[in-house]
Amino acid sequence: MSDLNQATLTAGDKSVALPVLKPTLGNDCADISKLTKETGLFTYDSGFTATASCKSAITYIDGDKGVLLYRGYPIEQLAEKSSFIEVAYLLLNGERPGADQLKAFEAELSKEATVDDSINALIGSFGKDAHPMAILAASIAQLSAKYHNSLDLNDAAQRYQAAVRLIAKLPTLAALIYRHGKGLNLNAPDTSLDYVSRFLKQTFESADGKYDLNPNIVKALDVLLILHADHEQNASTSTVRGVGSTGANPYASVAAGVTALWGPAHGGANEAVLKMLEEIGTADKVEDAVAKAKDKNSHFRLMGFGHRVYKNFDPRAKIISVMTQKVLAELGVNDPLLEVAVKLEQAALQDDYFVARKLYPNVDFYSGIIYKALQIPTELFTVMFALGRTPGWVSHWLEQQTDPEMKIVRPRQIYTGSPVRDY
Ligand code: SDX
Repeated sequence: MSDLNQATLTAGDKSVALPVLKPTLGNDCADISKLTKETGLFTYDSGFTATASCKSAITYIDGDKGVLLYRGYPIEQLAEKSSFIEVAYLLLNGERPGADQLKAFEAELSKEATVDDSINALIGSFGKDAHPMAILAASIAQLSAKYHNSLDLNDAAQRYQAAVRLIAKLPTLAALIYRHGKGLNLNAPDTSLDYVSRFLKQTFESADGKYDLNPNIVKALDVLLILHADHEQNASTSTVRGVGSTGANPYASVAAGVTALWGPAHGGANEAVLKMLEEIGTADKVEDAVAKAKDKNSHFRLMGFGHRVYKNFDPRAKIISVMTQKVLAELGVNDPLLEVAVKLEQAALQDDYFVARKLYPNVDFYSGIIYKALQIPTELFTVMFALGRTPGWVSHWLEQQTDPEMKIVRPRQIYTGSPVRDY
């Protein structure tokens, strides 16, 4: 943060004073909301690389330093000391819960964990080879139909209840989608268990309800969900905010966020990383892959590398890479793809192309290897990302609904089409 309080933009014979807005942390922002009125100018910033879309108190990222804070708490401390449910509460409410508040929140999530038979029918109506993200988006859209007529968005309690319902039902949807793909019975969540155990049991239990919970797996998954819980104005969260800005209901806004997350440039990268590692196959093919990733004529990119904001290590990737070795050792899994990933990371981090562009491993680079060790199929990886990200999405939606400066999202454009012409 600088001591700059005003920026001046000179446009021809006009000079416009732009107020400079001060954040708690991070870059100062020139407020250009009056620019067009005073100069007739628009600004152009494809992909909004330098444009703040809102004010938010939820998450802060310092891309140069590789810092990630949820409500001010460093991600490293939350990953080590907190739980996914405590982090979800923190993101939603701004403060960590006391013991009673946490207990009540967990009870609320258990109560809301079940879904109607109509969801089972919807999931069951998809082909066995349907991509889980398509089914997830449709299932959440179905929730928007179920809760639409009774939802008064002017009522804070109903807004909060919608947020809690989405956090509560995502694991159930993920488990049902997995079981549908495997041709297994569509079962109900065991609400006597904690959030992560409930998800694992519902996903993997045998037809007669048997599943041995491994505390190492529960803990590993809990940490992975913490690491995915929020990430300020990423593409899917911006989509949730964009849809939410029109007054659409939160289930519809989150369904839109799911479809945005699906793309391989965003949350779909975790699935793409595993496919890339399988394509490379062995460590001796890594050099070729790095060369291909640098070749502009090939459309090949190193999936799981690079980030719009992090120009240093993604702190989540650092934690996940340490976890990967630990979880695979605990599970006695020896995955040759881990060796390929480690070799690929080493090769890229020593290569000028990647160093010059500050391309480091991101959250998606190693997560797939852990999910695979947890027996989660590749095509479900991005559903796992959505499961983790739901508290972030709904927290941003809630924050937006009471933001006095919120306006409907409606960017302008540079028109490059035909001048006016007669028909
Ligand atoms: C997530 O925003 C978030 O916070 C997202 C996320 C979250 O938690 O919500 O962190 C989750 O989406 C992580 C990112 C997952 N995506 C991938 O791993 C896909 C591979 N990475 C890229 O496609 C890319 O790095 C992006 C999409 C992540 C970022 O793209 P940018 O910021 O628009 O950067 P760019 O495409 O303009 O690239 C800058 C340069 C280009 O080269 P030059 O034109 O300068 O010569 O870097 C090159 C790019 O070609 N480049 C890569 C590369 N990523 C960027 N080259 C090879 N491999 C890559 N992975």
